Amino acid sequence: MKKRLQHPVFKIIAKIAGEHNIQTYVIGGFVRDLFLNRDSKDIDVLVMGNGIKFAEKICASLGKESKLSVFKNFGTAMIKYKNWEIEFVGARKESYRKDSRKPIVEDGTLEDDQNRRDLTINAMAISLHPDSYGQFLDPFNGIEDLDMHVIRTPLNPEITFSDDPLRMIRAIRFATQLNFTIEKDTLEAISKQKDRIKIVSMERIVDELHKIILSKKPSVGFKLLDKTGLLNMIFPELSKLKGVETIKGKSHKDNFLHTIKVLDNICKNTDDLWLRWAALLHDIAKPDTKRFSEDGWTFHGHEFVGAKKVPGIFRKMKLPLNHKMKFVQKMVLLHLRPIVLSQEIVSDSAIRRLLFEAGDDVEDLMTLCEADITSKNDIKIKKYLANFKIVRQKLKEVEEKDNVRNFQPPVTGELIIETFALKPSKIIGDIKAEIKEAILDGRIKNDYNEAYQFMLEEGKKHGLEVAKLK
Ligand code: CTP
Repeated sequence: MKKRLQHPVFKIIAKIAGEHNIQTYVIGGFVRDLFLNRDSKDIDVLVMGNGIKFAEKICASLGKESKLSVFKNFGTAMIKYKNWEIEFVGARKESYRKDSRKPIVEDGTLEDDQNRRDLTINAMAISLHPDSYGQFLDPFNGIEDLDMHVIRTPLNPEITFSDDPLRMIRAIRFATQLNFTIEKDTLEAISKQKDRIKIVSMERIVDELHKIILSKKPSVGFKLLDKTGLLNMIFPELSKLKGVETIKGKSHKDNFLHTIKVLDNICKNTDDLWLRWAALLHDIAKPDTKRFSEDGWTFHGHEFVGAKKVPGIFRKMKLPLNHKMKFVQKMVLLHLRPIVLSQEIVSDSAIRRLLFEAGDDVEDLMTLCEADITSKNDIKIKKYLANFKIVRQKLKEVEEKDNVRNFQPPVTGELIIETFALKPSKIIGDIKAEIKEAILDGRIKNDYNEAYQFMLEEGKKHGLEVAKLK
């Protein structure tokens, strides 16, 4: 154990702990990650005494490179040292009221502190006092749960979850990240306590949701959220995708299972959180657009309705309402376009239009479309992927030739005004739009000379005369 605590910070903590005879422990996520061989730069240090005063002493010993922040209200202090963040906190005993997750906090023992933690694998501690340096303190046998890949609360799960309901999602998050199983009583308690999630802020929920989305196989987490009933509380739009309907022997696929499969697929090809969000939302409007006709089930326009729903979902989930939201919206809107292109003999003009609309996000759009193939038929998958390869190649060729990805009009509004001596009016916009259409259709090249000639012809059609030069 001692060997694992190599970092000089631990030596300094031990020295100061010895000098002042203060029991001190490294606890929680750092200890868990030590056993999992996961690199962790966050260290939580538990101090049997005043955590802030202790941190001040450590900071002074670490010298100039360390920076101390004190959070008086919480009785905690944090040292930033190189790329490490070390948090010092006095041992606590907490009790909770029913209507709030803000605890009444009192000083406590190491045992009290371990009791109040969320999971057995997060409640392990290692002594940093020189007399017992490296001693492993694991009252709930978290090490065995780590070995057996089990998620379990230290105390009765109903108490642990009721104290801080976010822990229900944390349990699911750790099960997803680590590919562990949630122990039966713990899982049942989540289902029972799910309504308590209402007292947790959306920001904290989304922090955990993002850790699920950023894991290797997020479907594990979404299935657990669904199974426990939490999904319907925190993300009802996704929950509504569930289920299969059959009419006259014709069924549609379960769009929830399809969506989380698409999400798993895209995770193999991107770490980008927002592209992963796009995968999660790409079919979000399927329930709104579902129709049955003699030909079977259709979801016409679900990409348009879905794109319209994105801002509302982002607002409700306290996600950023900026370019990231716009990106997700664009992906949802365009997600069917490459599929259409891959099914027909594709014209340059269709490719040019897609490049124009997707701009620099065209690569991401292709990644989303490739992830969207979830057929069980291997031959079909291979065929689609091969077609997408052709679309990608075509996109490359057309872009090299026509350069419309970040389209800038080769003829400006000012030039139109000058040429025909116009006052600002609607016709200027009309001529500009006609030029753009002609370029996208391939009737003229994306260059100044052809666009200028085209402008003159369009002007004539509108009865405009070229102004005499002054
Ligand atoms: N903890 C808890 N209940 C919570 C949040 C945290 O009991 N709702 C405890 C756990 O012991 C946890 C420690 O506080 O290990 C630190 O929490 P945090 O830094 O949020 O998470 P980590 O466990 O370190 O995991 P990660 O770094 O992956 O977020």
